[in-house]
Amino acid sequence: MREGHNNVIYRSDYQAPAFWVDTVELTFDLDPAKTRVLNKMKVRRNADVVPQALRLDGEELNLARVLVNGQGTSFKLENNQLVLENLPEGYEAFDLEIFTTCCPAKNTKLMGLYVSNDSFFTQCEAEGFRRITYFLDRPDVMASYSVLLRADKAAYPVLLSNGNLVEQGALEEGRHYARWIDPFKKPSYLFALVAGQLVAREQRITSRAGKEHLLQVYVRPGDLDKTEHAMNSLMASVAWDEARFGLSLDLERFMIVATSDFNMGAMENKGLNIFNTKYVLASQATATDTDFGNIESVVGHEYFHNWTGNRITCRDWFQLSLKEGLTVFRDQEFSMDLAGAPSARAVKRIEDVRVLRTAQFPEDAGPMAHPVRPDQYLEINNFYTVTVYEKGAEVVRMMQTLVSTRPSDPLGREGFARGMKLYFDRHDGSAVTCDDFAQAIADANPDSKLAQLLPQFKRWYSQAGTPRVKAQGHYDAASSIYNLTLTQSCLATTGQAEKEPFVIPIGLGLLGLDGRELTNGMHVLTQASETLSFPGLQDEPVPSILRAFSAPVILEFDYTDAQLLTLLAHDSDPFNMWEAGQRLAVNRALSFIAQEGLTAGDIRLDAPYVEAMRTILRHPTLDAAFKELVLTLPAETYLAEQLDVVDPQRIHAVREGMRQQLAEALYEDWQWVFEAHRESGAYRPDSVSSGRRALTGLALTHLCLASRTSGDTVWPGKAYQRFKDAGNMTDRFNALAALVTSGHALAGDALQRFHAMFKDEALVLDKWFALQAGAPDRGGNVLPAVKQLMKHADFNIRNPNRARSVIFSYCSANPGGFHRADAAGYVFWSDRVIELDGMNPQVAARLARALDRWKKLVEPMRSAAREAIARVAAKPDLSNDVREVVTRALAD
Ligand code: TRP
Ligand code: ZN
Repeated sequence: MREGHNNVIYRSDYQAPAFWVDTVELTFDLDPAKTRVLNKMKVRRNADVVPQALRLDGEELNLARVLVNGQGTSFKLENNQLVLENLPEGYEAFDLEIFTTCCPAKNTKLMGLYVSNDSFFTQCEAEGFRRITYFLDRPDVMASYSVLLRADKAAYPVLLSNGNLVEQGALEEGRHYARWIDPFKKPSYLFALVAGQLVAREQRITSRAGKEHLLQVYVRPGDLDKTEHAMNSLMASVAWDEARFGLSLDLERFMIVATSDFNMGAMENKGLNIFNTKYVLASQATATDTDFGNIESVVGHEYFHNWTGNRITCRDWFQLSLKEGLTVFRDQEFSMDLAGAPSARAVKRIEDVRVLRTAQFPEDAGPMAHPVRPDQYLEINNFYTVTVYEKGAEVVRMMQTLVSTRPSDPLGREGFARGMKLYFDRHDGSAVTCDDFAQAIADANPDSKLAQLLPQFKRWYSQAGTPRVKAQGHYDAASSIYNLTLTQSCLATTGQAEKEPFVIPIGLGLLGLDGRELTNGMHVLTQASETLSFPGLQDEPVPSILRAFSAPVILEFDYTDAQLLTLLAHDSDPFNMWEAGQRLAVNRALSFIAQEGLTAGDIRLDAPYVEAMRTILRHPTLDAAFKELVLTLPAETYLAEQLDVVDPQRIHAVREGMRQQLAEALYEDWQWVFEAHRESGAYRPDSVSSGRRALTGLALTHLCLASRTSGDTVWPGKAYQRFKDAGNMTDRFNALAALVTSGHALAGDALQRFHAMFKDEALVLDKWFALQAGAPDRGGNVLPAVKQLMKHADFNIRNPNRARSVIFSYCSANPGGFHRADAAGYVFWSDRVIELDGMNPQVAARLARALDRWKKLVEPMRSAAREAIARVAAKPDLSNDVREVVTRALAD
């Protein structure tokens, strides 16, 4: 597939490093145009490897000097490596001193050392450290770091690095210095420094173990009032990891620093986490409930990496899910535990599954499909994926499920915590593999299903693709036996034609016709096909299969509407209750899509479905947040995955038509919902009140949509009023979105006012851009609007958040607007991929993935999409990042 390019990296080629680096002493003279880096290392040969040259990685560096044991030495520079052949023999450590310079001001890739808003930041994962100095830039080389930072004191009053501040003081010419020592060994990807004009919110805490710690959240001077929630989230994270896993903070000081120029969400550098401002800054005036929730989970995620990722790290980048899958699992559990009530936990679970099914399932079915532990890559940055993260988290979750051995531990939490303890006993301080992790969890639970099935279970790490489980029920009235046959299969993916059966834990309940629960349990499917027998049933039961979404699979069962309505009304498992509603909607959407010549205006939803939705809306005890999830139709991308040939326009029209119907048929119910769930009192981002706001927001959208056909102006008027008066960003933005979504005439004015209100709030402007770029397409109006937005004075393609808010919101999150018959969306996409690739390949490659599923498109879109991808692929000097994505897209 990638013939002609010999730089593919294979997992099977792993070799231990030929040298170890024991200590690193770095001295930085920080200057945006020319930063000088002195790197003094103690290096020694790895006795387990045949003697060979030392090859140090380095990119975009100017090399001034290399000294071995204080003496000049010969060296070569070969494909971004510094090669040293004449090194001391034997296994004694020697001194290696390397002096280089780099230019942070020109670093638009935001990898390595770069400047953002006149401050210095670093991003080293995965391979950014080599853009700072020559190094054995691989995660299995762990060293002790001591860092001396020197910079102009007025311009860079704050100087931070990993670990503890051991010394600071003044230098001549208005400069100053700070020395930091990290007490823990770490791989180079966890190195960080920050220098600039920053202020910190501080909090002193005492751990359960009685130790004192200083927590700090650093931001730009005007942003201090938006750091309370991040700090609260950090304190909650510290407490949670102690309570649930007995893992305490191992540093005297733990710092979070926010920057507005960042390629991803955040980074877990040891003791010095660096965050995208989007996942730190929040106030009720500027952040939505979703933002508050995301901050909580990302702060938790990065903090939890301190143990799962930093104390035990990855042997090589193929093991990325060792830390990411596990840490996503941990942050999901953290958010669920904080949510508290079972229904709030279920809401979080549904949200997580929704991400998995709308993003990871398509990835697993597309050209970038790869196992949770990939076998090869051209550019590792391309493998920070929903498969490694979210599917990886599901694999860890299944392990937890499969170590439940007693009724007192139904979810397997105790067994899993035992496994974690063994994992740390065995591997603390080292760089290990996914096998090591699975082995520890299994060994700590020798009587568990996981231990019995470990080799087969590990196929989840090695086989790509989403398994399908087909369930077929057969009820025999004469014998009163219900047989349920479960058959698993998995489609071929690139390089993996045949798949072996997976170990699939299947939460399973049976309901009587009256909705009463007859049985509930967990079946572990291991064969290609198995039949379960349930004797003694008076009637054919309704099966509730894959409860709590117990495995990341596609479940096929030919449910009748009556069965789905029973599950929606009575299932004791909230996930499957929600799922029944989604299936009802999917079935209807697919049948509308299949009807030739049907237009959005022809769509009529049947009474039983509408009544079921009404019952949910009016339900006396269900949570508002849960109702909002049930009443939200399946995403267009989810519907697309159910089809072999995809016409995005048609899917969009059908989903819009269904939504319009729900708006009109439930008009009075939406009105009631809106009035009944009004919040009074102070804003709090907790799950109950955020659920109420989510549901009223959904109601407002539907009420404004209904006004499109009724001509009534009351609700758009109310939405506009709420937009103006709202006391928090959630209500304000939902009201604005209701006007934009319904295409009401007031939308333009509201958008203008919104911009004027928040012109100095970058994160709010991102929302403003994203809302317009993601608006429902009406006659092809979005693309011209997007092009206009790119000319806006506040647009800046170099800022990843801003680029994402406009370009990604359109290309990746607005299928109805993007997939145009005239191919103009694709031309726009290819121009932007090429433009971004010139400055930031990582961001460009993410955008490149917007056309992953082009092969499913209906003509003429399919050909037009292929042409657009080919146009990108034909460009000389593409980055490895984009080249890998487009080459794979065009393969076969
Ligand atoms: N390890 C980080 C996390 O999951 C994410 C990350 C990986 C990252 N590579 C990055 C962040 C590059 C920024 C830039 O928390
Ligand atoms: Zn992570």
